[in-house]
Amino acid sequence: MSGIKIISTGRALPSKSVTNDDLAQIVDTSDEWIFTRTGIHSRYFCAEGESALTLAIKAADNALSASKITKDDIGCCIVATLSADYATPSLACLVQTELGLPEDIPVFDLNAACSGFIYAMETARSLLTCSGKKYGLVIGVEQLSKILDMNDRGTCVLFGDGAGAAVIECDDDLFYESVLGAKGGKEICCPGVNEGANGSKSYVSMDGKAVFRFATSAIPKCIEMLHEKVDFTLDDIDHVVCHQANSRIIDHVIKKLKADPAKFYKDMDHLGNTSAASIALALSEMDDDGLLQNGQKLLLVGFGSGLTWAGMLITYDKK
Ligand code: ACO
Repeated sequence: MSGIKIISTGRALPSKSVTNDDLAQIVDTSDEWIFTRTGIHSRYFCAEGESALTLAIKAADNALSASKITKDDIGCCIVATLSADYATPSLACLVQTELGLPEDIPVFDLNAACSGFIYAMETARSLLTCSGKKYGLVIGVEQLSKILDMNDRGTCVLFGDGAGAAVIECDDDLFYESVLGAKGGKEICCPGVNEGANGSKSYVSMDGKAVFRFATSAIPKCIEMLHEKVDFTLDDIDHVVCHQANSRIIDHVIKKLKADPAKFYKDMDHLGNTSAASIALALSEMDDDGLLQNGQKLLLVGFGSGLTWAGMLITYDKK
């Protein structure tokens, strides 16, 4: 089977950082309550003139510049998001035009919520394998601040905006495997444009305890499913990058797996939960901080609304 490797990353954050103390001015909450339950201290919200589109363009541009390949080499462009600027045109098509990507390639958005970036990476791999093209651009982006009910302290403190991107290269004989899954349910729900047609705005709602149970079982399940396909242990993996929903979810899993906490990257303290952007953002931060070295093996795990889950074993190999 052809696999993919990550050859560059990029990211973009809005200009406005919102601390827990800032939110405590709006709803009845505190830094202590939010941080002890989620590991989040602050997050970014889009300011005037910023949107999922502006973030996606910047993150993609950064990843492409770092890749040392030409735009003409890109064989597909996929954006994972649940908060695009428009139902149509897709963010991916608008990024394509802005960055001058080729026209004879598949370009589209994909919604698998917080598992979206991994879904998009595997979809890109499949498309590249079929087309025989070598490189793909995959972006995870969210502007969740526009679908947050700022009167609901149970949800508005959890999420943030941001974008991450990766350029991937398709090749044979790579350390690569993926598992994708889903089971329909409304544990995390945002009614979207249809129910908002009467003028009412639609917001994210969530059954927090049910999501906690789902998330803490989805991560070990993805690892187990990958293990059925590839002979590996966590000792073989340099970094585990889970969807950055909540620090307690990751801590719970580390304990359950008796794993080394140092392998599990966390950045929700300053980014919050950025859904489809979170794994891509984490990879880009790790890249810039020098944590990623060529040849390192990564385990990515996503879980989220849908409900969806996704696991991926992939190599980092900067051009
Ligand atoms: N500040 C202060 N008090 C709050 C806040 C807040 N921001 N939010 C809720 N509370 C109150 C509630 O009103 C409730 O008060 P009550 O006992 O007087 O009724 C009390 O705190 C406990 O509320 P719970 O909802 O039971 O809080 P819980 O301990 O379950 O923590 C949390 C909530 C952090 C969301 C937890 O359920 C959780 O971690 N869930 C995982 C879900 C998650 O992280 N989702 C992310 C998005 S989905 C995804 O990415 C996959």
